[in-house]
Amino acid sequence: MPFRKSLSHRRINPTDRIPHAQPSVYALPISVNFNKPFSKQWARFSALLILAAVINMTLLLSTTHAEEPITIRFSHAVANKTPKGQMAIKFRDLVAQRLPGRVKVKIYPRSLMYQDSNVGAAIAEGKVELAAPALSKLRQFTPKLQLFDLPFLFPNMEAVERFQNSMEGQALLYSMEQRGIVGLGYLHNGMKQLSGNYPIRTPTDIAGKTYRIMTSDVLKAQFEAVNATPVAKPFSQVYNLLVTGTIDGQENTWSNIYASHFYRAQSHIAETNHGLLDYMVITSPSFWNKLPVDVRETLEDCIRLAIAHGNQIAARQNQQNRTAILGSGMTKVVELTQSDREQWVNAMKPVWGRFSADIGEELIRAALVAGQGR
Ligand code: LMR
Repeated sequence: MPFRKSLSHRRINPTDRIPHAQPSVYALPISVNFNKPFSKQWARFSALLILAAVINMTLLLSTTHAEEPITIRFSHAVANKTPKGQMAIKFRDLVAQRLPGRVKVKIYPRSLMYQDSNVGAAIAEGKVELAAPALSKLRQFTPKLQLFDLPFLFPNMEAVERFQNSMEGQALLYSMEQRGIVGLGYLHNGMKQLSGNYPIRTPTDIAGKTYRIMTSDVLKAQFEAVNATPVAKPFSQVYNLLVTGTIDGQENTWSNIYASHFYRAQSHIAETNHGLLDYMVITSPSFWNKLPVDVRETLEDCIRLAIAHGNQIAARQNQQNRTAILGSGMTKVVELTQSDREQWVNAMKPVWGRFSADIGEELIRAALVAGQGR
């Protein structure tokens, strides 16, 4: 990856100049008589100085022209029209506007480059520069991020936002630094719903059924807690697994269920809002820290704006896609009563106890405080 050389570190202290300049002038094999400014020697000396300046300018210009733009490859698992896909496009467009000719962003959607399950390792190894995997898929780099998979932890997206902006939430962006990954920000999708080819209202309705999960011990435990069988599979395979009946059901947000057509292969979706699907925009510290300061700062600003754009879309799109699924007539959406919901909470929430030491009690407390609106 070619890097532009930052010139900002090349400022010279004026008091340093004199001792440095003197030896080079005195080293010239010319003795200058200052009473005869147009002497032959003086003319030779001036010619040499001009020649040196011309050579310097030529070298500088040719270096500038030879520089290739920095390429940032952004790999993700979903379609361009999803909130994450739109965030990536917004980032690419902002970078094209603000760093033309200096940085180029190439997007690889729909797992064309990496599955979310191995994109973290690819980032750490410098094989790709940017990704936004689901937080559930980052367990292999830190146990702390399992927090976000705990069922019924966050009551809504406002609580998620409050926690992510808290000191504890921000610290998690750096929790994988030792493993060669750093978070540049959180990106929302939304709350997950449960689908199947049978009416789903209470946990007993999915007992004995096979459910696709992201690779996550918490999600595995969550389905085991309701006597279902979890199978970890990449997102890109879910539709085929549903169509072929290899799995009975899946959990995901309205926007993913809609964009990837899962609703066409499932007769029922229960609106459980039982868990969160959120992402972290990640890069490698060794790539990011080598960027020239002005480029890095501009990119960070672009990421911030693109995330805000993606988050706005996520909230809107999940609602719109829910309506579109309802209107499609292809699947029935089941709204839970308070007592249905309590059954899910009672069955799934005990899972927290198994992971609290691994995640850290203080993190869970901070998330609960955010959930109470503080
Ligand atoms: C999933 O695997 O279900 C999600 O992580 C896909 C995504 O990136 O939204």
